[in-house]
Amino acid sequence: MNEVYEKLKKCYEQAEKKISFKPKLALILGSGLGDFCDTMDVRETLDYRELDGFPISTVLGHKGRFVFGYSGGAPVVAMQGRVHYYEGYSVQDAVLPTRLMKLMGAEVLFLTNAAGGINPSFKAGDFMLITDHISSFVPSPLIGQNIDELGTRFPDMSEIYSRRLRGIIENAAAAENVPLKSGIYLQTTGPNYETPAEIRAFGRLGADAVGMSTAIEAMAARHAGMEVCGISCISNLAAGISANPLTHKEVQETADRVAPLFKKLVTRSISDIVG
Ligand code: HPA
Repeated sequence: MNEVYEKLKKCYEQAEKKISFKPKLALILGSGLGDFCDTMDVRETLDYRELDGFPISTVLGHKGRFVFGYSGGAPVVAMQGRVHYYEGYSVQDAVLPTRLMKLMGAEVLFLTNAAGGINPSFKAGDFMLITDHISSFVPSPLIGQNIDELGTRFPDMSEIYSRRLRGIIENAAAAENVPLKSGIYLQTTGPNYETPAEIRAFGRLGADAVGMSTAIEAMAARHAGMEVCGISCISNLAAGISANPLTHKEVQETADRVAPLFKKLVTRSISDIVG
């Protein structure tokens, strides 16, 4: 008996009874895109707490739900409220929602996040198309008995962020006049921000941005055969690059400031990917 898969199947069976909408694309909303669903033609919603076994956010008053509907004409399931490893869940639980959205029908995973900029050419408020990631500082979500029903034991990760989708997003950004950088995302466990020494080390390893999510979700999705893409909002310069101490307030304020542009970029990208 594979416990991780049994839990996933149970969540899926409960969701299936409540939801009839069939999404083609799964969207994980990061900081700054919390109100993205206001731009959607919403058809159904499902609170995480309606699913027994679903990892529920520890943040009080946190909106945790799946929103089903159309974004730019495309059938989408969006996660309003992400599950982070630093909240204390197992890494397998942290990717349960990603796998669940795949079972619901989504073939594409669109990841968004707020991240600290390491690349010296980045400014707060920039957007970075994720071209690849470094996940070596977090455990793999694929550790444990393999879920053969989803994918192979040793999945290839050589093109985890689809070249095809990256091309579409670059064209969408150009069409909408949204400047878009590109680079490599490095995931840490969080919840603390990094030290300046860590940021210098991550830069030497090739990272352009750092954050506390995304890579594990991308790996779980790729394992399950989804096509993956992602965009980071550079909400701050990483520790030691910026002269100031980092605060969640700064991250949130920058993310909120550029949210309208981020929404425009994501909406156009989704519509070009699925349309
Ligand atoms: N580090 C890690 N995670 C983050 C940061 C950062 O500087 N900014 C937003 N999320």
